[in-house]
Amino acid sequence: MSKLTPEKSIVVLVSGDGSNLQAIIDQISQGKINGKIIAVIANKENAYGLIRAKESNIPAIFIDHKSFTSREDYDAELMNNIDNFSPDLIVLAGFMRILTSEFVEHYHGRMLNIHPSLLPKYKGLDTHQRAIAAGDREHGASVHFVTPELDGGPVVLQSKVPIFEQQDADELAERVKQQERQMYPLVVSWFCAGRLKMANNKAMLDDKVLSEMGYAIG
Ligand code: GAR
Repeated sequence: MSKLTPEKSIVVLVSGDGSNLQAIIDQISQGKINGKIIAVIANKENAYGLIRAKESNIPAIFIDHKSFTSREDYDAELMNNIDNFSPDLIVLAGFMRILTSEFVEHYHGRMLNIHPSLLPKYKGLDTHQRAIAAGDREHGASVHFVTPELDGGPVVLQSKVPIFEQQDADELAERVKQQERQMYPLVVSWFCAGRLKMANNKAMLDDKVLSEMGYAIG
């Protein structure tokens, strides 16, 4: 991989398993991402993502949201912890909290999220069950820049999976996660190569504005 731009530093926020985190760790160790994860922070003590971080010698920090009386106070503490590392990029990888607009604005243009639906469909929770219940034939995941509107920031990349008859939400979720583990490291690699930016609330790759469905080949 060419290193035309300096290596980018990344803080990853997780709440659970951290399989997306692991995919990014793996691609960094394979030299496919011009970046380094300098900390993993979780709001849940038992988040397996913290163990994955420790196994890769990445500082792993637990900040308990239950110790704070307000969302503002928690986000301020989270921000302090993140800013201690001065990261270039914040990666939300299954971080299951609604963020205050102060927090989101502070990381304007340098915070990415992955959401398990073909945005703008199914913002929020229970996306797999909602897609099945609606009779959709396809579902998927989206990587997007984070803006104050929940799951509403500009999409960078989407990946689709078919919904088969009789498929339950857990099976569908696993198939979506297989796609996520391919697409999230790719988008992180674009950002770390200096190719991906947000400008005027649009995602731009190689100085071209991406469509509302994100990057498409051709
Ligand atoms: C992923 O499916 C991600 O899309 C979803 O949480 C899962 C985390 O998996 N995120 C959201 O629902 C955010 N609204 P992981 O912990 O194995 O990476």
